Amino acid sequence: MSFEFSLNHFFDSNMPSSTLTINEQVKARWANGERLLHLGFGESRFAVHKKLRSALCEHSVEKSYLPSKGYAPLCESVARYYGDKLKLDFESSLVMIGPGSKALIYALQLALKADLFLPTPSWVSYAPQADLLGNRHFYIPQSNQLGFEFELSALDALVKASGNERKLLIINSPNNPTGQMYSTEFLEELAKYCRQQKILIISDEIYGLVQHGKIEHHSIATFYPEGTLVLGGLSKHLSIGGWRIGVALLPNTPSGRKLMAALEVIASEIWSSVATPVQFAAQVAYSNDDDIETYIKTCTAIHGVRTQFLYSGLTKLDIRCAYPNGAFYLAASFDHWKPQLKLLGIQTSAQLASYLLDTHDLATLACDSFGMASDQMTLRLASSYLDMERDEDSQRLIDLFESNIDHDVFMSRQHHPNMHAALDGFELFVRGLADTR
Ligand SMILES: Cc1ncc(COP(=O)(O)O)c(C=O)c1O
Repeated sequence: MSFEFSLNHFFDSNMPSSTLTINEQVKARWANGERLLHLGFGESRFAVHKKLRSALCEHSVEKSYLPSKGYAPLCESVARYYGDKLKLDFESSLVMIGPGSKALIYALQLALKADLFLPTPSWVSYAPQADLLGNRHFYIPQSNQLGFEFELSALDALVKASGNERKLLIINSPNNPTGQMYSTEFLEELAKYCRQQKILIISDEIYGLVQHGKIEHHSIATFYPEGTLVLGGLSKHLSIGGWRIGVALLPNTPSGRKLMAALEVIASEIWSSVATPVQFAAQVAYSNDDDIETYIKTCTAIHGVRTQFLYSGLTKLDIRCAYPNGAFYLAASFDHWKPQLKLLGIQTSAQLASYLLDTHDLATLACDSFGMASDQMTLRLASSYLDMERDEDSQRLIDLFESNIDHDVFMSRQHHPNMHAALDGFELFVRGLADTR
C-alpha cells in the first residue's frame, strides 16, 4: 500500500546547496576515472595541524554532552581570540558554539524572523535559509558588474519597499564568491546607515583570517558593536570544515542577551551541543598558539599566491574578475562574450558551467545560486582544490612554499600542473569564442 504524503512547498523548487552538489558530482566522476579540474568547491585542503590532531585524539574519550551554548572555557577562548584579532571586546557569555557557522546563521535567521537584505552576489545558503523559514529576502543590486559593492541608496530603496520593522543585513568580507573585501570607509558608512535605520547585521567573517591582499580585515562591529553579530569558525583558515564547528559573537546589550537565550533554545531543541572532542580540540585552535598562528599565516599566504595567479591568468585571457584580497575565490565574468556564447546555445550561467564541464573538464559554479540573474554570465571559481586534490599534494606544496621558493617557480607548471591545465582549458574555450567573432 502506498501513502502519498506532501512536503513543505520549499522542496518543490529547491535543490540541495549547489556548492555541495558540484563537489559530490566531481568526486563521483573522479571515482569513475574521469579527469576533471575542480574549481567548483571552496574547501581549504591543507592538513589538520598536528596539535589539533593530538587534541582531538586525546579527547576522543570525552563522551558526555556539553552545554548547548558551548563548552564554557572554549567560549572564553573564542571571546579572547576574536577580541584580540578584531581589537574589540567580546563577552564570553555572549559566545555561541554551533555545528558550523552555517547552522548558526540559520538559527539566527530563525530567532530574528526578519526581512533579509543581501548584497549581490552573496553566498549560496543565506537566501535558501530565509526561504526555508518563510522569511522574505531582497538582493541589493551590484554597483559594479564585477564586484560585490553596492550603493547605500540601493539598500535604502529596498528597506523602504520592505516596510518591515525587523531588518537583517548579511555581509561577508573577505567574500565568497568574489574574493573581495569591503574598505573600512565603506564599513563605517554602512554602519552609520544601519544604526539610523535599526538594521541588524550578520557579519560573516568566516574568511577573516584568510586575507592575503592589500586590505586589512576589519569587522563592521568596530563601528556598530550594538547591531553586529559576528560569525566565524575554523573551517577555512584551519581547513577543518568537516569537523563542523562555528562561532557567533553577539552584542553585549539586553537584546544581545535575549538573542543568546533564543539561540540556546534552538540549539537545545535541534543539535543539543557540538561534538565534545571537537570543542576540546577547538580550544587549542583558539588558544593563540604560536605554531598554529604561523600555520594559519602560511596556509593563507599559499591561498593568496594561488588565487592571485589564477586571477592574473584569467585576466590575461580577458576573463574579467575583481581583484581578490582574501578567501580563495574569483567571480569570473563572461558577459562580454554573450553574442558568441549564444551561438553555442549558452544563454545562462548554468548552461555555461555545464558546457565547460562537458567539453573542457572544468568544474565551476554558476553564480545564479549567489543571487545573480541567470543570464549574467558569471561563474565562481575556487582556487583551493587544484593541485591539492590529494593530502600528499597539499603537503608537498606546503613543504615547497616553506623552503622559501620563488613564487613564480612555486606557481610553475611543474608544481601546479592542474592550475595550468585549468588556465589552458579556459584559453582554449575563449580562443574558440574569439574565432566566432
Ligand atoms: C561565506 C561562507 N559563510 C559560511 C560558510 C559556512 O561555513 P561552516 O558552516 O563550515 O562554518 C561558508 C562555507 O563555505 C562560506 O563560504
